Amino acid sequence: MASLGTIQQFKHVSYLWDEAKAAELAGDEVALFIYRSNILGADLRLTNYGGGNTSVKITDKDPLTQQETNVMWIKGSGGDIGTLTKSGCAALYLDRLRSLENVYRGVEFEDEMVELFNHCIFDLASKAPSIDTPLHGFLPFKHIDHLHPDAAIAICAAKDGKKITEELFGGEVGWVEWKRPGFELGLELRRCLEANAAKGIALKGIILGSHGLFTWGDTSYESYMNTLEVIEKCAQYLEDNYGKTRPIFGGTKINSLETAERHKTAAKLAPILRGYCSSERKMVGHFSDTETVLQFVNANDLAKLAPMGTSCPDHFLRTKIAPLVLDPSKLDEKGYLDGVFAAYRAGYREYYEACKHPNSPAMRDPNPVVILVPSVGMFTFAKDKTMARLASEYYINAINVMRGAEAISEYTSLPHQEAFDIEYWLLEEAKLQRLPKPKPLSGRVALVTGSAGGIGKAIAKKLASEGACVILNDINQERLDGAKAEFLTTFGKDAVATTLLDVTNSDSIEAALAATCLAFGGVDIVVNNAGISLSKPIQDHTIADWDKVYDILVKGQFLVSREAVAVMRKQGFGGDIVNIVSKNAVVAGPNNLAYGSAKSAQAHGTRLLAAELGADKIRVNMVNPDAVIADSNIWAGGWAEGRAKAYGITVEELPAYYAKRTLLNEIILPEDIANATFALVGGLLNKSTGNALNVDGGVAMGFLR
Ligand SMILES: NC(=O)c1ccc[n+]([C@@H]2O[C@H](COP(=O)([O-])OP(=O)(O)OC[C@H]3O[C@@H](n4cnc5c(N)ncnc54)[C@H](O)[C@@H]3O)[C@@H](O)[C@H]2O)c1
Ligand SMILES: [Zn+2]
Repeated sequence: MASLGTIQQFKHVSYLWDEAKAAELAGDEVALFIYRSNILGADLRLTNYGGGNTSVKITDKDPLTQQETNVMWIKGSGGDIGTLTKSGCAALYLDRLRSLENVYRGVEFEDEMVELFNHCIFDLASKAPSIDTPLHGFLPFKHIDHLHPDAAIAICAAKDGKKITEELFGGEVGWVEWKRPGFELGLELRRCLEANAAKGIALKGIILGSHGLFTWGDTSYESYMNTLEVIEKCAQYLEDNYGKTRPIFGGTKINSLETAERHKTAAKLAPILRGYCSSERKMVGHFSDTETVLQFVNANDLAKLAPMGTSCPDHFLRTKIAPLVLDPSKLDEKGYLDGVFAAYRAGYREYYEACKHPNSPAMRDPNPVVILVPSVGMFTFAKDKTMARLASEYYINAINVMRGAEAISEYTSLPHQEAFDIEYWLLEEAKLQRLPKPKPLSGRVALVTGSAGGIGKAIAKKLASEGACVILNDINQERLDGAKAEFLTTFGKDAVATTLLDVTNSDSIEAALAATCLAFGGVDIVVNNAGISLSKPIQDHTIADWDKVYDILVKGQFLVSREAVAVMRKQGFGGDIVNIVSKNAVVAGPNNLAYGSAKSAQAHGTRLLAAELGADKIRVNMVNPDAVIADSNIWAGGWAEGRAKAYGITVEELPAYYAKRTLLNEIILPEDIANATFALVGGLLNKSTGNALNVDGGVAMGFLR
């Protein structure tokens, strides 16, 4: 085991091995391999998300022959080593896997081997074996780590990476030139090992040109330490060379805007870029302006490096081969963005046409995924937030790689044909085809005002569960915090953002929409739901009562819609506004002058805006609820007690009492209002605008005429 001295020597990687934990797993090599994988994956400096794979070779009893047999456990296709569990692995008969060499017809036919991996499955609950399976299988080592550490890939992508590897590791780390992962690369690794063995060299790792690192050990711990040591050495070597011969990325060409100004600019730009990037399908955005990003986008070498494209196949599969770089001084010039986007798409089409094979899948979306804006930062767009965030993380990996490679030598990228062959690989295409169908609201961004409240929260939940990203907001911080915690648990961090929002204050609304644009790139669905209730005879209505009700319900709906429409128009692909109005907009009753008439103004506001925004494909509809008591703040604070008392019943009896007054004898729940909202925006009612949907259990007096 490592002494404290050894542990402390790591500066560039995290030493996370916990001996007590490992001791609990002692004797179970598979558990130890999974433990190692998890702590390797916990440090993003060691591998990018989903990148790389790990394995262990053990003996186990063959269920058919009852004989001891060699089995290899390896991370299955997809998934991330950081969260790997046994169920995310594939277990294969090692001897069978190796015997596939006997039927291998050569590199042109290597893709057909992938099918045959299935004949080698030992554990029937295995995940699909990854394309890297032979890379692990043909190496003799018990524990193997294949990672994509930025520090090692910098050497992989350096012009004289091979020489550097030899010198840095004194020949103990081998080098294999770039080759697309697959059966042949597995054999190549074995050849590299054997060639070195013939010279009396026992390798402790192999660097794959333009790709990543292989390291190993006899035990899980030895493999872990070997991996850390090799990566640490690469990272230290880079650090020793930064700025030695020339400034990083050739020095700064343009300074960053101040943080507040930068975010304001980014928020303004995001929906415009989102509009362009969504020309084929709706995309969600992610913005990043970390120090690493700004150093790169502001640098002299940006113009040289960005068009070269990324190197590690994992990187560009997520980011496209090259980003779109914008000139910040031209952003306001008429036609500038039209021009650069058209050029990018044409360039992508050219790349596709030049590299395609007769059986290549059809060209995919030609829009950029990564957009770099000097002085501002980096935008990424993808079909959902997780993909957009990952694209951003991957491009940051690529920046790290370029920075390292340029410090020690010269950065080289993958040749276009190689990149294309990965991007349009039939095996990759098959993976895409197997992806589950996107949810109805996937790629859409929703802002429901007052979404910490009863009905608002239910609406936000429904929209999120149908695939939308939601920006939770409310005037009430405490309720907002509660809603946030709930949403993070249910939907994860990517789908949810939060902001305080007072719908009566235009600055607050502007800030909330800017936060939405920064978080997700723009907005598609805005639900005006925030509200309060008031029930008083006319003589008791104060001016303050009147103003408050009208400010929140009527002015609030106007202001939020105005700001939302501005964003939607920038995107240029329409949108949805849904107003949560009320039966009271239609039905007149006593003690309701301010609230009822404000609701009525909200209703007519819906129709007026529908009339105005049709040309923008912005649909404006309303939902008219009645008597939604569960979770409602409106009903708390004495209102429910007051009503119950008036009817001579208890508060608990109220829902049933109201239900009895409806045609369907139904209690109306917040989820019912949420479902109605989803019905309006979910795609089936795309040709309806200016409409009202009553959700009140059937109240004849509330029928619209
Ligand atoms: N509950 C019902 O029976 C019922 C019936 C018809 C219509 N509605 C309408 O449904 C909407 C939601 O009502 P609910 O029952 O969920 O009430 P609720 O009080 O539970 O939720 C309303 C939310 O709006 C927030 N809010 C209040 N003022 C705000 C402001 N200035 N800016 C931002 N947020 C603010 C509140 O903090 C609260 O979280 C309201 O517009 C209400 O008029 C409710
Ligand atoms: Zn790899």
